[in-house]
Amino acid sequence: MNISATNNLEAFWMPFTANRQFKKNPRMFVSADRMHYTTSDGRQVMDATSGLWCVNAGHNRPKIVEAIRQQAGELDYAPAFQMGHPKAFELASKLVAMSPTGLDHVMFTNSGSESVETALKTAIAYHRAKGDGSRFRLIGRERGYHGVNFGGISVGGIVPNRKMFGTLLTGVDHLPHTHDLQRNAFTRGIPEHGAELANELERIIGLHDASTIAAVIVEPVAGSTGVLVPPKSYLQKLREICDKHGILLIFDEVITGYGRLGAPFAADYFGVVPDIMITAKGLTNGVIPMGAVFVKNEIHDAFMTGPEHVIEFFHGYTYSGNPMASAAGIATMETYQEEGLLTRGAELAGYFEDGLHSLKGLPHVIDIRNIGIVGAVELEPIAGEPTRRAFQAFLDAYDKGLLIRTTGDIIALSPPLIVEKSDIDFIIDTLGGVLKALD
Ligand SMILES: Cc1ncc(COP(=O)(O)O)c(C=O)c1O
Repeated sequence: MNISATNNLEAFWMPFTANRQFKKNPRMFVSADRMHYTTSDGRQVMDATSGLWCVNAGHNRPKIVEAIRQQAGELDYAPAFQMGHPKAFELASKLVAMSPTGLDHVMFTNSGSESVETALKTAIAYHRAKGDGSRFRLIGRERGYHGVNFGGISVGGIVPNRKMFGTLLTGVDHLPHTHDLQRNAFTRGIPEHGAELANELERIIGLHDASTIAAVIVEPVAGSTGVLVPPKSYLQKLREICDKHGILLIFDEVITGYGRLGAPFAADYFGVVPDIMITAKGLTNGVIPMGAVFVKNEIHDAFMTGPEHVIEFFHGYTYSGNPMASAAGIATMETYQEEGLLTRGAELAGYFEDGLHSLKGLPHVIDIRNIGIVGAVELEPIAGEPTRRAFQAFLDAYDKGLLIRTTGDIIALSPPLIVEKSDIDFIIDTLGGVLKALD
């Protein structure tokens, strides 16, 4: 390793990382370009995970790099409250122009987690602004991931993310998850079985009464718990039930947004428009932290009342719409548009699907699933040692020049949308080799 003695690995308590394992044998990236990272020992590693599902246009894209350089020298910071700067408005206008119909207003944040909190607070405050303040409950879903802040882990459904942190938010309930290995294993694309799970929302409404429920929040495709593709008609049913009962539907598109499924947003892919749409990650190609929360006109307009000198919504961040992030966001949207990346996934999805499903039959593989340019290979866990087998696959793949992501005993793939067929071949061949050699 080429790490100087003064670089003390102990000081940095790393996020969502096996710290002791890492620090015994660190894995460091020192540069990146397009589909590849370079490690501190000079090796090339193909990025089959778009960083953390965020580098949708690949690494080191000239337009984005240049936009940030220029912005840093022109306007480094402007207050986000009671002041503005042109780039934040330009980015917001660009975003609403490409978003599903009716989502015509956008609030900026600095991450997916903050976008989630913003969306949940907006939903509750919206009902209150309309004089319907008894609607305070939030309905999430088992196996949902909505970031790590208190609202997000409360509506989220990942046990280790929740169990250490006390009572969480009150007034939260959960839909069942839609992962059904018995009926849907090895499905290509959208699974056939499970739309009826959306009816569980009616059961929850029956328990609490619709008049107490503000919003339902789901990831259209659950990413972090292993690429759980919604069953056919499931999202449509959720939409119908929410409409019937005056409940807002929130889509967390932090992963699915900006082209991951081969359409700009999952809302476009599934033809289901939420009332609030949460994005982050691909918004700036992962280069500068930023999130964007899209809201329907009725929601925005419900706040635009009262004396005009009074703040309408008591919420926001020091860095909401930060100039550098805005500049990165504009350059990212231009890169996506110039290169057709928001729909490129649709052209490659079939090739990616065929490659991925060719891994069926390899040792320990109990499911393979895919949609757009995202896929997962689920492994049988080692008895009594959950996560160990997939983590070993992660380490072996890294040694062979491939970055994959694992969650539990599931391997997730989500390469940058500039991926070529030859890159997909490399990903599948390398992963196949890793799987064949696993204990
Ligand atoms: C669906 C979803 N929501 C929220 C988040 C949280 O985003 P961040 O890590 O930027 O806070 C993530 C991150 O992976 C995510 O996948």
